[in-house]
Amino acid sequence: MTTERGQGKEVQKITLPQEQLTALFELSKRINQINDLQQLLRELLNSAITSINAERGMIILVDESGEYYRTVASDLLKEKDTTFSKSIVKATLEYRKTLLSADLRSDVRFKDADSIRKLGIYSFICVPIIVPFKDRALGTLYVDQRVHIKTFSQEDAAFLEAFANLAAIAINNTHLVERLIDENIHLREEVGKIYDFPGVIGKSEIMQKVFHEAKQIMDDDCTVLLTGESGSGKEVIAKAIHYNGNRKNKPFLAINCGALPETLLEAELFGSVRGAFTGAVDKQGLFQAASGGTLFLDEIHHTSEAMQIKLLRVLQEKEIRRVGGTKNVKVNVRLICATNEDLQKAVREKRFRQDFYYRINVVTINVPALRDRRDDIPLLAQHFLEKYARQKAKSMRGFDTKALGALSAYDWTENNVRELENEIEHAVIFAKDAETIGINDLSERIRNTSDTAAVLIDEGGKMLNYHDFERKYIEYILLQANGNKAKAAKIMGIPRSTLRGKLRKYRIGQ
Ligand SMILES: Nc1ncnc2c1ncn2[C@@H]1O[C@H](COP(=O)(O)OP(=O)(O)O)[C@@H](O)[C@H]1O
Ligand SMILES: [Mg+2]
Repeated sequence: MTTERGQGKEVQKITLPQEQLTALFELSKRINQINDLQQLLRELLNSAITSINAERGMIILVDESGEYYRTVASDLLKEKDTTFSKSIVKATLEYRKTLLSADLRSDVRFKDADSIRKLGIYSFICVPIIVPFKDRALGTLYVDQRVHIKTFSQEDAAFLEAFANLAAIAINNTHLVERLIDENIHLREEVGKIYDFPGVIGKSEIMQKVFHEAKQIMDDDCTVLLTGESGSGKEVIAKAIHYNGNRKNKPFLAINCGALPETLLEAELFGSVRGAFTGAVDKQGLFQAASGGTLFLDEIHHTSEAMQIKLLRVLQEKEIRRVGGTKNVKVNVRLICATNEDLQKAVREKRFRQDFYYRINVVTINVPALRDRRDDIPLLAQHFLEKYARQKAKSMRGFDTKALGALSAYDWTENNVRELENEIEHAVIFAKDAETIGINDLSERIRNTSDTAAVLIDEGGKMLNYHDFERKYIEYILLQANGNKAKAAKIMGIPRSTLRGKLRKYRIGQ
């Protein structure tokens, strides 16, 4: 049957009646509530059929090969009644256009279609279910009229198209959910294998040591000081300690001590009483809110001397007093502090109180800079790639060798893991929707480093020592000068005698 091909009337922009809009709106709310795709599609279909007064309705989903693999029938349909015209569905899928026949008996496009006549259909609408950015239609939403003579209209078709869009979103979501579940299981297995803390990545020896230390103090109440450069993962470790330790069912609260002026920080930490200072309200502080849990004080070096004295008191007395308050209240909070400053030096320079320093560094864990654990870079990069590909619904799966080499060679001095994460998110946004990230998908500064790094490393990826580097340099220049030593010395900008000495030293051309 070729008559219907490409002839499907396109539906123009049409204003829908109020009750149909309401039906759509109600359904759009249901989409995020129902996880069972079959149930969701059935609800969708029943609602669509009632709204346009159709007799029968089906959602027919197809797989990649075009096989009809799942049909959902409206409640009123009996099992045997679920026959549909494959040629109608096929044409709708192929042309990704709505097919509508108001009255089949007088529709010349279908005059030769015996199968349709056999089904006794008067009127039908078949709408493709299309997900944006996918070139394949997922299936069709199909309604028809057999017993009663009712002719479907353009408005009915427009309405069904809106429904089909909702169905597309629903199907896409559930596929996503199914995939997510798979990946989570996979990830958890991985976690059991290499990582000590779920979600915290680090197989390098130095990170394994960090995990080991963290595990030892997980269930203790001792104050912990986490040191390390910005973005190295201090907060991640703090959370891992909390969520794996015996306080895990109580809150983990965090505050950046450098982000607020003194008075506000104090009110934030200890709470305040109305009228204590301009704008003060009756409010519980973080120490109380985190009761039984952990309080993470980030950038602790930003606290003033007065604040350090107050915090020291809390640690010793285990009680707080609200700003403007008169009563002391007992608190039970574990403190984890973090800093990217050398606090010992700050103490020596009298910028940080010694007594407070000793009180908070009962245990100190240093989170190493990313460049000191390059083994972890590929793992972290892959982790972030999966995270952002999923988030942005892109299909990127991995990196090519060159890109991975460049990421591993880069120093990440500005923001360590956070900087790497940003780089990967950026790459995912701008990369062509291909499977792998290549060197050209990375930012210029990383590409450049990789060019420089390439001449500075040996075949095993290790940095050349100076001796090997100089030898490599001389050999390269000699090659450029076709073995002419005078010319080579000139390019190098050194006297000929110096070059001769170096050639002897490196036994080049001897
Ligand atoms: N080991 C790790 N595994 C997974 N993600 C990490 C790891 N270390 C850091 N990150 C991520 O890098 C970013 C910066 O980490 P964060 O803990 O905030 O650093 P810091 O507190 O040292 O500034 C966060 O988005 C965090 O999720
Ligand atoms: Mg931080």
